[in-house]
Amino acid sequence: MSKKINWGIIGAGKIAGKFATDLATLPEAHLYAIASRSEPKAADFAQKHGFQKAFSSYESMLQDPMVDAVYIATPHVYHCQHTLMALDYKKAVICEKPFAMNTREVQEMVAKAKAKDTFLMDALWTLCLPHILKAKEIVESGQLGKIVSVKADFGFRAQFDPKSRLFDRNLGGGSLLDIGIYPLLFSLFFLGKPQKITAVAKIGTTQIDEECAIFLSYDSGQTANLHSTLLARTPTEAHIYCEKGFIHIPTQFHKPVSAIHILEYEDLKETVVPFDNQSIGYKYEARELMRCLQDGKKESDLVPLQFSLDLMELLDEIRSQIGLVYPRHD
Ligand SMILES: NC(=O)c1ccc[n+]([C@@H]2O[C@H](COP(=O)([O-])OP(=O)(O)OC[C@H]3O[C@@H](n4cnc5c(N)ncnc54)[C@H](OP(=O)(O)O)[C@@H]3O)[C@@H](O)[C@H]2O)c1
Repeated sequence: MSKKINWGIIGAGKIAGKFATDLATLPEAHLYAIASRSEPKAADFAQKHGFQKAFSSYESMLQDPMVDAVYIATPHVYHCQHTLMALDYKKAVICEKPFAMNTREVQEMVAKAKAKDTFLMDALWTLCLPHILKAKEIVESGQLGKIVSVKADFGFRAQFDPKSRLFDRNLGGGSLLDIGIYPLLFSLFFLGKPQKITAVAKIGTTQIDEECAIFLSYDSGQTANLHSTLLARTPTEAHIYCEKGFIHIPTQFHKPVSAIHILEYEDLKETVVPFDNQSIGYKYEARELMRCLQDGKKESDLVPLQFSLDLMELLDEIRSQIGLVYPRHD
């Protein structure tokens, strides 16, 4: 059997806890280390999730030669800095979304990974989920004809707190980078890069986008209609409308779902494709990283670095249209 991968996590927050819960279900993963800025927080997290070691600084964990792979789970604005630091220690890195705050930062991360000859992956877990890969397979089979348009949304009502990660501009707040990124990556995955982008947003009192609507169009005539909001719960589902039928991914499309639905227009035939035992969904990206390491690969085919660059370029363009500025990064 191949060697187990020793995982380290940077930042003992909410998503780190969910990721650790899923990681514990993978036999090839060893829950090795957690790093927090706070010693008691690291110790609590280690005890709760069964990590062997707890570090009270991020860098001290990276100095441990036993750590093979690092999951970065800090707020957006630190992703670039923490990724560069982990790559400097030659750790394989999977970093939470958004990968960074802008394209320049992503370019720096990719260049560092290449210079260090080290694995780097954007934690776009949605692209590793079986139902998304199945939808792609159905589209590529041609069964439904060509894609005409894609529609996806993501919205929930967030408690307004100007100091929270979601509303504080200094922590990278806003709907676009936090949740709008999912409809956007969905359209990028199915349609590729658009030729024209039109975006409008409601900018709130903390100068972040509380709501954002995006329309993408392609020289091929295809379109994408995308929406994110922190002000209301929306269906958070996705449709891929094709010439002969559509695929519907029910709420919440970016997470594991129990089924996807296909409707063929001619005879109104509905097919349900079920998905079982998918867990909370983070194990797929973790497994992808470990598979790549076992195969000696430096990047994932499921989430290639070019995809991350393309996605960030779209985010940059949308931000420039809606006037969303992150002063410490832009
Ligand atoms: N893939 C997904 O489904 C998903 C879901 C939620 C969030 N995320 C992403 O994961 C990242 C973290 O989100 P979260 O919801 O887990 O946030 P969170 O609960 O606030 O946790 C972030 C952690 O980052 C560390 N940190 C370092 N510097 C910080 C600072 N100045 N302020 C606050 N925290 C700081 C803290 O850990 P220590 O105190 O232990 O150092 C904190 O617990 C975000 O970029 C978000 O986009 C992804």
